[in-house]
Amino acid sequence: MIRHFIFGLFFGLTVGIAQAQDGKAIYDANCAACHQPDGAGAVGLAPPLAGTLGKRVGSPVGRKYVPGIVIAGLAGKMESKGVVYNGIMPNWQQFSDAELAGVINYVLTAFNAAELAAGHTPYEAAEFAALRAKKPTGKELRAWRSELE
Ligand code: HEC
Repeated sequence: MIRHFIFGLFFGLTVGIAQAQDGKAIYDANCAACHQPDGAGAVGLAPPLAGTLGKRVGSPVGRKYVPGIVIAGLAGKMESKGVVYNGIMPNWQQFSDAELAGVINYVLTAFNAAELAAGHTPYEAAEFAALRAKKPTGKELRAWRSELE
């Protein structure tokens, strides 16, 4: 009984650590080319992820917008911090829900810690699974994003 509890504790801890490491590794290998290693973005290429997402995920609609764009991708015009981007955000469906939760949790803690709400809880795989099952359209994603401006 106690042994199971200790095992569970240890297992939970190692899974948590593994997810955090995967998040950074996935980001560096797949997102940094466009969004830059520090999440600052690059004019003419991709908007910043640093300092812009923390507040966004504090509202229910923003909480689903961020996983939604990662699962469905988006193309077209997007304004961020006064700069208009007109590129293509690929979709990342090849990654598992846990891997995607890991990469977004990495982006939030590494680049948006200052703006995260006090009650912020890390993303869980299930939130990505829900959006994968009911993929948002580009129109929905834009509406969710503009609701937060
Ligand atoms: C090929 C370049 C490219 C790559 C690689 C890329 N993105 Fe993007 N990303 C974009 C572009 C361009 C946009 C803006 C989309 C638009 O204009 O419709 C964007 C938008 C976003 C947004 C929304 C930002 C906002 O202000 O609403 C998030 C979140 C995001 N990307 C996360 C990621 C993550 C996480 C990865 C890696 C798994 C990734 N991106 C990889 C180009 C890229």
